[in-house]
Amino acid sequence: MSAPAALITGGTSGIGKATAELLHSRGYRVMVTGVDHVADVGLPDDVLVVRADARSLPDIDHALDQVRQHLGSLDLLFLNAGVSRPGPIESTDEAAFDALFDINVKGTFFTLQKALPLLDEGASVVFTVGAGEGLGAAITAAKGALLPLMRALALELAPRRIRVNAVSPGLIDTPAYSKLGVSPETVEAWGHGVPLGRVGYPADVAEAVAFLASDAAGYVTGNNVIVSGGMGVHPAS
Ligand SMILES: NC(=O)c1ccc[n+]([C@@H]2O[C@H](COP(=O)([O-])OP(=O)(O)OC[C@H]3O[C@@H](n4cnc5c(N)ncnc54)[C@H](OP(=O)(O)O)[C@@H]3O)[C@@H](O)[C@H]2O)c1
Repeated sequence: MSAPAALITGGTSGIGKATAELLHSRGYRVMVTGVDHVADVGLPDDVLVVRADARSLPDIDHALDQVRQHLGSLDLLFLNAGVSRPGPIESTDEAAFDALFDINVKGTFFTLQKALPLLDEGASVVFTVGAGEGLGAAITAAKGALLPLMRALALELAPRRIRVNAVSPGLIDTPAYSKLGVSPETVEAWGHGVPLGRVGYPADVAEAVAFLASDAAGYVTGNNVIVSGGMGVHPAS
């Protein structure tokens, strides 16, 4: 039996990159996509890195052609490419709104649609969600579309024995924050407000994805695994 294969969108940085490293260390053959940082990513040499913008259907086709050519089929599709553009309604222009929905929602939907022929019985699909709190209406709405989408697809693909789940990161220390101009000190300080007393590491989320990909989660579908150190937990709800 050949080693399992995984495609990770948005795998050149942060959570996706940590997941690529973890799965590779566990014997997976791995391909990642990214846009701006596809050279010298710092992943093991045999991890394939492909430039594919999740907003572009031709780019998605190209990435999946590469999967077909190099990996054959997929045991895990980790739909992780995403952006967060926090801001109140007054400062969210059309371009920011479209980017949020195109990358987070449209990219997720069409990558899965186009990957379906490559997903065999028993394959696992994982969405990255993680709405966060107080980030702004547009990002909340874009990420908010993903859980119903995930659950609908879990049911739609269950007859093919394809499992579809989500991970919802809380506050995870990744380059996403420096891209938004947040200093490392600020991110660390935010950790004091997390019930478990620290920000999360990308590897914390990678472990949850690896579980959802594994046979150990063979009866788990339509679920959202929250990896937040207790952030967002409300005892009464
Ligand atoms: N970090 C957190 O606290 C947190 C919390 C909740 C949810 N999330 C979600 O977790 C996911 C990963 O975020 P992260 O924190 O790991 O961020 P990150 O370090 O900034 O990584 C983002 C990844 O997405 C890729 N990407 C960005 N735009 C893309 C596009 N148009 N098409 C394809 N790939 C694209 C980036 O590729 P390039 O760099 O090569 O362009 C990079 O590989 C995102 O969906 C994010 O919304 C993160």
